[in-house]
Amino acid sequence: MNVLLVGGGGREHAIAMGIAKSPKVTKLYCAPGNAGIAALAECVNIGVMEFDKLLAFAKEKAIDFVIVAPDDPLAAGLVDVFEEAGIRTFGPRKNAAILEGSKAFSKDLMKKYNIPTAAYENFDDAQAALDYLETAQFPIVLKADGLALGKGVLICMNKDEAIAGVKEIMQDKKFGTAGNRMVVEQFMTGREVSVLTFTDGKTIRVMTSAQDHKRAKDNDEGLNTGGMGTFSPSPFYTPEIHDYCVKNIYQPTVDAMAKEGRTFQGVIFFGLMLTADGPKVLEYNARFGDPETQVVLPRMKNDLLEVMEACVDGTLDTIDLQFEDNAAVCVVLASDGYPVSYEKGFEITGLENFDGKDDYFCFHAGTKFADESKSKILTNGGRVLGVTATGANLKEARKKAYEATEWVNFANKYMRHDIGKAIDEA
Ligand code: GLY
Repeated sequence: MNVLLVGGGGREHAIAMGIAKSPKVTKLYCAPGNAGIAALAECVNIGVMEFDKLLAFAKEKAIDFVIVAPDDPLAAGLVDVFEEAGIRTFGPRKNAAILEGSKAFSKDLMKKYNIPTAAYENFDDAQAALDYLETAQFPIVLKADGLALGKGVLICMNKDEAIAGVKEIMQDKKFGTAGNRMVVEQFMTGREVSVLTFTDGKTIRVMTSAQDHKRAKDNDEGLNTGGMGTFSPSPFYTPEIHDYCVKNIYQPTVDAMAKEGRTFQGVIFFGLMLTADGPKVLEYNARFGDPETQVVLPRMKNDLLEVMEACVDGTLDTIDLQFEDNAAVCVVLASDGYPVSYEKGFEITGLENFDGKDDYFCFHAGTKFADESKSKILTNGGRVLGVTATGANLKEARKKAYEATEWVNFANKYMRHDIGKAIDEA
């Protein structure tokens, strides 16, 4: 099969690694890819939102199967474009990707189908939101309705912060049109867990659990980022919690989407909070998480392409999803200053230290070749690399991952030093 993967970050590098291993693949392309993905796929310089060019490329190369990984093209309907052209495509259609694309939609869905989540109100109007804050309890959570690079969520400790937050989201439009609507949500406390699942619209298969570290600095300080590191599995996600979630959250979500005429095929990422009142949904994503994928897929035993085909073909019930009985930790190496402002274009050295090791992975996020000779690789983003190691248990995986962060260097390398600290509390 000729396969086209759409995307170009660390998540896509981990997906490309899984797909490239499949004996079903004749040729793997990635648009736009990055310097790491280029070792596994032929990268083509087409952006993820250039739908006409992507379709023309797929036709020219006789692509049999497309994987759309990032949120923006999913929400804008890239899967529909390929499907209308008769190309089998993994990922939710536009009418299902709304599960992530609109926080107000997802909250209303959960309320309608009794899926546990925090109490909330949706607002189209800034003044109405400000009036609501007069009698609200604090802390409180403000969420821009639309996609905002994972940054449109503000936790406000008091009324003044919340008033400033409403202005930022709805009046100053800090997150653009994502802030045309807003969800105001009760603040929940507990452990966060990320659970990725495959679904064909009827059956759901749950991958191993993970936990992300979203803040830029150690001890969960600093600004929200796309994710600074992950570990898998989460020791807090017990078999009892898993069973509860399958019955009360995962399957009901898939069934609710089907009932709404929005059958979802692809990956649903459940962002959960394990509260004193039981697990609740913090957020849905309509795609693989980043950097969750970088610790989940290295542990998966199945042929990734075969599982994705089963999602598209409606045969996921025939798949027995299996994971290694081990653990993985990913530490993100970022450009100092991320997520606000940072320099890029620095040479990355030491990447060859990962060659030939099957328990260490260096997933490229923001990288590019210096020139046509492809002899040098440069930093090209805020999150540059995701260094993952697997081990017999979480402690071993964390030790190995941090050791491996020393194998690579670039001028403004920055990382958190406490990824997986929660492991010691388990
Ligand atoms: N790591 C969180 C996300 O992918 O949105």
